[in-house]
Amino acid sequence: RTPVYLDCDTGIDDALALAYLVAQPNADLRGVGTVSGNTDAAQAARNTLDLLAVLGRGDVPVAVGEHDFLTRAYAGGAPHVHGGNGIGGVRLEPAHRPVEETTAAELLVSLARESPGELRVIAIGPLTNLARALELEPRLPELVASVTVMGGAALAPGNVSPVAEANIANDPEAAQAVIAAGWPVTLVPLDVTMAHLLEEPHRQQLAGSDQPVARLLAEMLGHYFEFYRDVFGRGCSAMHDPLAVAIALGGAVPDTAPLVPVVVDTGEGPGRGQTICDLRGRYRGLADVPGATCRVVLRVGADFPGHLTQALSA
Ligand code: BDR
Ligand code: CA
Repeated sequence: RTPVYLDCDTGIDDALALAYLVAQPNADLRGVGTVSGNTDAAQAARNTLDLLAVLGRGDVPVAVGEHDFLTRAYAGGAPHVHGGNGIGGVRLEPAHRPVEETTAAELLVSLARESPGELRVIAIGPLTNLARALELEPRLPELVASVTVMGGAALAPGNVSPVAEANIANDPEAAQAVIAAGWPVTLVPLDVTMAHLLEEPHRQQLAGSDQPVARLLAEMLGHYFEFYRDVFGRGCSAMHDPLAVAIALGGAVPDTAPLVPVVVDTGEGPGRGQTICDLRGRYRGLADVPGATCRVVLRVGADFPGHLTQALSA
């Protein structure tokens, strides 16, 4: 089983991603670090502890990570998308379990040192903790097997600006540091996550499940669907974070994912937070670019929402 560190801003789709990850027989979740994003890092940790308790995984260490971003203060998250508590206002039974005494960055570094070359890092929030971990341990890229990031927009529009996606836009400096670190990064951008929508019949399947977590997720999704009503014109929701977890663990296999140079716009102009992916090779079939270390997932053909719903409700 592959050791996994999850970095998240729990978050409705983060909650789905966590539940999906815990259900994967090939993954050994060794620790979770939280970061501000959808909600603040401390609330994200409470949500994570409470969800892990429902999932029967009260043994997984949870560490609170960065409250503020590298160059900017956290400005209050996305309550219009994820609710005031990050999980659509759903009240979970408090886990009554403390968080780790270390920071998320320290937890990541110690897990990487414990299993050199084996740990898979999955980041589904802003990349501040990963950037801090790189500062703490410059050898981290050699110690980690892979980094999968939900974030960015290659050819698709952004979701918090015309060109920027939320996780990257919250901390572009951190994202640039992570993408430039030389480790193998897989970017799962809006191009692919906005193409895999959970629809009302999926939500109903979760609501009717005998798994308590599936019923709680269905309740959270009720809130998420309302936000997406404005985006898609109907109640449904993009499966950003679960898709990144599935790609990291092999539950979803990309059809198109070229290895290309990527830089993040860290300027102060309208492009701030944009992931600039060099996709000019598409005119000759999108071959990998020698020396590039970032794979950009552009298409997953399989029915991911169906797979996810099945995995969560079984
Ligand atoms: C990403 O931002 C957050 O709102 C979601 O949890 C996801 O990680 C989508 O842009
Ligand atoms: Ca997230």
